[in-house]
Amino acid sequence: MRLFLEDEAATTALAERFRAALPESASGLTVLLVGELGAGKSTFARGLILAMGHKGPVPSPTYTLVEPYHLPSGTVYHVDLYRVSSEEELRFLGWNELDDGLRLVEWPDRAPELANSADIRITLSYDKDGRSVQIDALSAQGHELIADIN
Ligand SMILES: Nc1ncnc2c1ncn2[C@@H]1O[C@H](COP(=O)(O)OP(=O)(O)OP(=O)(O)O)[C@@H](O)[C@H]1O
Ligand SMILES: [Mg+2]
Repeated sequence: MRLFLEDEAATTALAERFRAALPESASGLTVLLVGELGAGKSTFARGLILAMGHKGPVPSPTYTLVEPYHLPSGTVYHVDLYRVSSEEELRFLGWNELDDGLRLVEWPDRAPELANSADIRITLSYDKDGRSVQIDALSAQGHELIADIN
């Protein structure tokens, strides 16, 4: 699935459509957010976290690595691996304990093995004044989810 997102509002609107397609329990689902600096990964994550009922700021997890959100519609872990350089560090940050929530992962290429256990890859790239987005399913559950995005 490929779309053009003309501005920030379009990225946020896609995040809202994505949220509407999520299963009742998204626990254990892993969504990779791929794209260069400023491509809109955090914009998408913020839109999704707000659409799931969070009120308040959605700070970048660049330094904390993980920002947890315990929301009425489920737990979301916003993860940023920009500063991570190995699978070992990923274990250190407690990745395996993040299985009770939806995991949104920026810079997943820092831990390439992650792609083997992920469900969806959202790739954002610069396109004119906006962005292009490509959404790929990496698992059966990911395929179902993509089919439900309206
Ligand atoms: N579809 C879009 N068209 C134009 N600008 C956009 C679009 N989506 C987001 N932006 C803008 O891009 C900028 C960077 O967005 P964002 O912080 O989400 O990027 P990022 O991929 O998370 O960057 P980083 O790699 O630094 O974490 C923001 O100013 C945001 O408003
Ligand atoms: Mg970001």
